[in-house]
Amino acid sequence: MSDSPYAELDWDEHGQPLSRQFGDVYFSRNDGLGETRHVFLQGNALAERFAALPAGGRLTIGETGFGTGMNFLCAWQLFTQTAPADARLHFVSVEKYPLSSADLKKALALWPGLAPWSAQLLAQYVAINPGFQRLVFDGGRVVLTLLVGDVLEQLPPLEARIDAWFLDGFAPAKNPAMWTPELFTELARLSAPGATLGTFTAAGFVRRGLIAAGFAMHRVPGYGHKREIMRGRFEGQPAAEAAPWYARPPRPHGDRRAVVIGAGIAGCATAASLAARGWQVQLVERHAEVAREGSGNPQGVLYLKLSAHGTPLSQLVVAGFGHTRRLLPNLRPGEDWDACGVLQLGFDAKEQARQQQLAEAFPPSLLRALTQSEAEAVAGVNLGSGGLLFPDAGWLHPPALCRWLASQPGIELKTHSEALEIQRHDGQWQVRAASGLLAQAPVLVLANATDSLAFAPTAWLPLKRIRGQISRLPATPASSALRTLLCAEGYVAPARHGEHTLGASFDFKACDLEPSAAEHRSNLALLEEISADLATRLDAAHLDPTTLQGRAAYRCTSPDYLPLVGPLAEAEAFQQAYAALRKDARLRPDTPCPWLEGLYLNLGHGSRGLVTAPLAAELLAAWLEDEPLPLPRAVAEACHPNRFLLRRVVRGTA
Ligand SMILES: Cc1cc2nc3c(=O)[nH]c(=O)nc-3n(C[C@H](O)[C@H](O)[C@H](O)COP(=O)(O)OP(=O)(O)OC[C@H]3O[C@@H](n4cnc5c(N)ncnc54)[C@H](O)[C@@H]3O)c2cc1C
Ligand SMILES: C[S@@+](CC[C@H](N)C(=O)[O-])C[C@H]1O[C@@H](n2cnc3c(N)ncnc32)[C@H](O)[C@@H]1O
Repeated sequence: MSDSPYAELDWDEHGQPLSRQFGDVYFSRNDGLGETRHVFLQGNALAERFAALPAGGRLTIGETGFGTGMNFLCAWQLFTQTAPADARLHFVSVEKYPLSSADLKKALALWPGLAPWSAQLLAQYVAINPGFQRLVFDGGRVVLTLLVGDVLEQLPPLEARIDAWFLDGFAPAKNPAMWTPELFTELARLSAPGATLGTFTAAGFVRRGLIAAGFAMHRVPGYGHKREIMRGRFEGQPAAEAAPWYARPPRPHGDRRAVVIGAGIAGCATAASLAARGWQVQLVERHAEVAREGSGNPQGVLYLKLSAHGTPLSQLVVAGFGHTRRLLPNLRPGEDWDACGVLQLGFDAKEQARQQQLAEAFPPSLLRALTQSEAEAVAGVNLGSGGLLFPDAGWLHPPALCRWLASQPGIELKTHSEALEIQRHDGQWQVRAASGLLAQAPVLVLANATDSLAFAPTAWLPLKRIRGQISRLPATPASSALRTLLCAEGYVAPARHGEHTLGASFDFKACDLEPSAAEHRSNLALLEEISADLATRLDAAHLDPTTLQGRAAYRCTSPDYLPLVGPLAEAEAFQQAYAALRKDARLRPDTPCPWLEGLYLNLGHGSRGLVTAPLAAELLAAWLEDEPLPLPRAVAEACHPNRFLLRRVVRGTA
């Protein structure tokens, strides 16, 4: 079998796609839509179940083999036609060989009746890279979590409760590697009690395997000429919970109101993710506007610092990049963002070796290695080396994304409002300002970076401030040749509004935000390293650092460089509840976690918040709403705020 990471297709005389990798059809040659509706929609009684969803209710579908997305689109169409207006559909699908967007467009053109839905899928079908990818439709009413990779690799890290399965994935005879007991065990682990299952196959070993995993299976007549297919129902036991400190806290029932403190990218995205789920959110910000601090630069890079070893951070960055990238078309192209590509230069031997490993570990849709002359042709200026091109990446104007997120229905932005104190009282979090009560709600999210250390329950968090400064370089006729964003130790962007953003310095000690000439100087040195030619085009030698325009702000970082996203326990009570771990770190006591009920964090995005914070908001909403997590379980745990409490207990450093 080919090792291409994409679907390799042939097209028959009727314009139907065929998989070269599997030698099988994507859907039945006569009436593919009819078969899908019979096998998967009716097979799971979806029309009735969608119609019966309660207000604010949700149904979660799981699928093996996303293919052309036709099953997804049919389910979404039916959902639109039958579900109550405020119900939500969550669709999780796995795909080993995603179609290119050109092939997807061609395949979906077969179904004109699905056009209103396929147009939306096509518009979002960008940066579909390996691992977990989240796509949001209809203002959040329909969410697709696409797991790109083999089912047997992608399902084990998934944390979800699936209500209905579409067991697709080419005929068992053509794809024996997928239809295995390991797959059936995963389907059982992920099933909600009573989950249903539909599949087009009636193969005996599939039936026996599913029964062994806990499904009650029966055969029913197939569609058209097909004699039999199968339907099933999960009757096994629910899977074991995670360790109590990473388990889902009790879900706040009914009252979907939250206060979010901080209107940078983390707070605005959190407010938007909750509002998309029907929450009423008060977004509290001390300045006159959103994005006045860390998220206030004129241009920020969608910069992917990756590891070839699949570390949690690297997985978070690939998934987060895709999510932020898919949000950008909501903003004005050219003005607020530009997917001009990001070129990471191989500026020394160590970086070149690292880049070579990355080029081998990731598909060319995400990144590809360029020689120096190729890189220069892409960049439009002379460079000192080749590098890695991330063709879908680019820059954005972070305040524009913050404004768009904060303007979603259901969000009330309260500016000029500085939270001084937070307190749980009578089932509500109360947020107080100097003038008195600012806001209250059952759920409170802290998205105010290192200022969260000013609140008593979170004063212990291991967060640090790092000052950074960007320089604004006036564009020149010669600098307009720059076509792509260039990164080495620093970065420089093609011009926006006649200025190039050049960044960024790191200062661990400074505690004032006045832009300094010394840091402009160090930024100009970074520019020289990126491209001496571009520095000349910008006449950098004659720029005066004492008069250069710029902007400084703080980054908020954690000791392991991962953000803090999710619920939080009460620090003292945690130490007491799990003191036994000090003697044996492998213990799994069943003492419930002493949560700070209703308190959640979205903090610590360091120097990559544009990539990580919007997806972190989806993760936070998934914790709160008991939804499928948008990241592998291990990545969500690596970002869990309780990890530091756990480390303290185990190391005895409380
Ligand atoms: C110079 C520089 C360059 C950067 N370049 C990039 C880049 O190219 N790409 C990238 O991905 N990332 C970059 N970053 C990092 C990125 O900007 C941050 O990760 C991101 O902005 C963090 O967002 P945030 O919402 O967590 O914090 P912030 O944007 O700082 O938001 C916190 C908000 O909370 C508010 N607040 C605080 N306390 C209170 C209170 N008590 N009451 C009410 N409101 C409060 C603040 O006013 C602020 O609006 C850069 C950072 C800097 C400093
Ligand atoms: C019959 S097609 C699915 C049709 C699809 N549901 C649709 O609506 O177009 C089967 C899909 O399963 C995918 N697939 C096959 N084996 C897989 C595996 N082991 N892991 C993940 N995906 C797999 C194939 O790449 C293909 O896209």
